Amino acid sequence: MESIEIGAKDRVFVLTGAGISAESGLATFRDSDGLWAGHRVEDVCTPQAWDRNAELVWQFYSARRENAEKAEPNAAHVALAELEKQLGDCFFLCTQNVDDLHERAGSRRMVHMHGELFVSRCSHECGSVPVADRAVYADLASVEKCACGAVLRPHIVWFGETPMEMERISAEISKATVMVVVGTSGSVYPAANFVHWARQAGAQAVYVGPEAPLNASAFTQVVLGKAGMVLPGLFKTL
Ligand code: APR
Repeated sequence: MESIEIGAKDRVFVLTGAGISAESGLATFRDSDGLWAGHRVEDVCTPQAWDRNAELVWQFYSARRENAEKAEPNAAHVALAELEKQLGDCFFLCTQNVDDLHERAGSRRMVHMHGELFVSRCSHECGSVPVADRAVYADLASVEKCACGAVLRPHIVWFGETPMEMERISAEISKATVMVVVGTSGSVYPAANFVHWARQAGAQAVYVGPEAPLNASAFTQVVLGKAGMVLPGLFKTL
């Protein structure tokens, strides 16, 4: 069984993707039974889709809310929360996932670079603060309104929009000595570049997932296997 040794001087940056939630029963994006099957990305996950048919967009995210609500964190989420408990400030987690399974497993030093499924915000960007929202909307008429009168939209980074928290993320990557990437196909940027940034800063980089990602050659180590099987025994804190 492979392991990653983490010493007192190490700082660990973890990037996760849809694969870490696969064993919790949430579909990944690019597998054949993935979320996009039956929905063209352009129909649901772009600002243009929102302008064209906000109701369809809300129906899509409402279905994802229903699935995520039923899902439970798996052994991989728990392993990362436990590592954070051991490392404290020397640990940082960036997820591309919009589900809340990392938080529910106990992760705290983390960001959602592609937004959060259970948060909504003003669709007119009036400056109001995003709000917690677990509602499932069948039609646009039932969607909550912002104080300014505009309808709320999902707090999700759509294709063509800028990922969140990039300053904090790049600051954490520049300090990291170990990067661990879990369950992401390496096909969406800028996340697919994080491994290159970390390597340029001198870090070792480990990928964990059942198949090699598109950017596999950038890693110092690729551990093939399901996240829930590999992560619980992967870290050896010295
Ligand atoms: N454990 C670890 N990895 C897994 C598992 C598992 N049990 N099952 C599948 N995987 C891997 C697949 O091999 C694949 O490489 O998870 C990866 C999922 O890839 P994608 O579906 O492309 O998801 P992701 O990389 O997270 O997508 C990135 O794209 O659509 C956008 O914003 C969306 O955040 C998303 C981004």
